[in-house]
Amino acid sequence: MAEATGKTEKIRVLIVDDIPETRENLRKLLFFEPDIEVVGAATSGEESVAMAAQLKPDVILMDINMPGIDGITATEMITQQLPWVQVIMMSVQGETDYLRRSMQAGAREFLIKPFTSEDLVAAIRRIHQLGLTRRPKISSEPAAPGSSAPGRDGTGTSAGRILTVFSPKGGTGCSTLAINLAVALAQQKQGNKVALVDASLQFGDVAVLLNLQASRSIVDLVPHVNELDGEMLETVLVPHGSGVKALLAPPRPELADQVTPPLIERVLTGLRNLMSYVVVDTNSIINDITLTTLDLADRIVLVTTPDIPSIKDAKLFFEVADALEYPSSKTILILNKSDPHSGIRAEDIQASIKHPIVAQLPLDERTATLAANHGVPYMVGSARTTKLAQATASLAQYIANVLAEKEETTVAVPAKLSTGRLSL
Ligand SMILES: Nc1ncnc2c1ncn2[C@@H]1O[C@H](COP(=O)(O)OP(=O)(O)O)[C@@H](O)[C@H]1O
Ligand SMILES: [Mg+2]
Repeated sequence: MAEATGKTEKIRVLIVDDIPETRENLRKLLFFEPDIEVVGAATSGEESVAMAAQLKPDVILMDINMPGIDGITATEMITQQLPWVQVIMMSVQGETDYLRRSMQAGAREFLIKPFTSEDLVAAIRRIHQLGLTRRPKISSEPAAPGSSAPGRDGTGTSAGRILTVFSPKGGTGCSTLAINLAVALAQQKQGNKVALVDASLQFGDVAVLLNLQASRSIVDLVPHVNELDGEMLETVLVPHGSGVKALLAPPRPELADQVTPPLIERVLTGLRNLMSYVVVDTNSIINDITLTTLDLADRIVLVTTPDIPSIKDAKLFFEVADALEYPSSKTILILNKSDPHSGIRAEDIQASIKHPIVAQLPLDERTATLAANHGVPYMVGSARTTKLAQATASLAQYIANVLAEKEETTVAVPAKLSTGRLSL
C-alpha cells in the first residue's frame, strides 16, 4: 500500500466495535464513499491498540462500551502513541460525562448511536480536516513553544488577538459577555478594531442580541474557503453602531454543518490580520468547531456562575484544557452572575476549580434582560453606568493589558478576590 504522502489519498478508517453487526453496518455505510477507505475492523479495545499501531489509520471509529479495555482507555493509549490519529467516539448514550472523558482521552468527536450515514461521513471528513490542521500542533516534535502565542502562523505579521468566550454550560451568560466585551474593547481605545464572530453556529444569538437584521453570515464564505482574503471577509461582516463588526451565524440551523473547522480557522486567522481583537462567541459543546476556536484563541474567557453544576463543568473544562496541553495562563476564569446571596463564595469556587477568578460580573437580571430584549448591549446607552457594565469595562481593560504584555511573561492575575478593581 502506498505511503500516506499524496494529497488525494483516501481517508483511512479503522472501525472498533465488539458487536459484529455494528462493524458490518459501519463498513456498509462507508463502502460507497469515494474518499474513505475502511482499512480494518478491531473487535476489542486491546485489538484496536495493536491494529492502530500497525495500520496507522487517519480516523478511528471507536465504540465506547466494550468488555476488557473500553473505548476511552483504548483511545488514550492510541492517541498517546499516535497523536495525529483522529478518534470519533460512538456511544448509545449522550452522557456529558462520557463526552468529557472521551475528549480528555483524546477523542475529537462524539457520535450518538444510532446515527445516519450522512452524520458519520460528515464527521469523518470534518475530523480528518481537523487532523490535518492540528497535526503540527499536537505532534510530539518540539514545535514552537507556547501554543497560545499570537501570530504563530509563522508570518510574524499578525496584529490582532483572538478571545474565545466559552462556557461548558449553557445559560451562564457566555453570549452576553462576548457581545459586551467586544463593545467594551471597541470603546476602550480609539482605533481599536473589533470583530465579533458567532461560532455558536446552529442557534447563535449575536444577531438578535445586537438587533442586526443582515442577510450576510459566515455561510456565505463556504464556497470561498480556499480563497478567503481580507476583502472577502469585510464583505460579510455586519457593522454595529458600537463600532464592532459582527460575523453572524448561519440564518438557519441546518446550514451550520456547512461551516467546517478549516473555514473557521481561515476566518479567524484572516480576521486576526484585519482587527485589533477578534471575540468569538461559542456554544457549550466541545466539538471540532469549538475546539478550533479554543485552539486558535490567545485567551479563552471561561464563564462560570456560582452554582454547583456550572462550577463542576468549569473544573472539567480545565481538565480538558490540560489534556489539550493549553498552558494554564491561556484561560481567564470569569465568575458571572456573582451574587453575595448565592451561598457560594468566590473564594470557595476558586479553591475548588484551582484557578484564579480574574473578574466577577454581578448578577443583574434587569440590565441583562433589558439589553437582550432591546437588542442593545448594556455597554451602550444608559446601562453603561451599571456595575455590570463597569465590571465588563474593567475586564476588557485587564484583558487588553494582559495581551499587550510579552507572551513570555506569565499572566498576572489578582491574588486576592475581594480587592482590586475587577472584583465587585
Ligand atoms: N450578569 C448577569 N446577570 C443576570 N443575568 C445575566 C447576566 N449575564 C447574562 N444573564 C442572562 O443569562 C441568560 C443567558 O445568557 P446568555 O448570554 O444567552 O448565555 P449563554 O450564551 O451562556 O447560553 C440570559 O437571560 C441573560 O440575559
Ligand atoms: Mg450563547
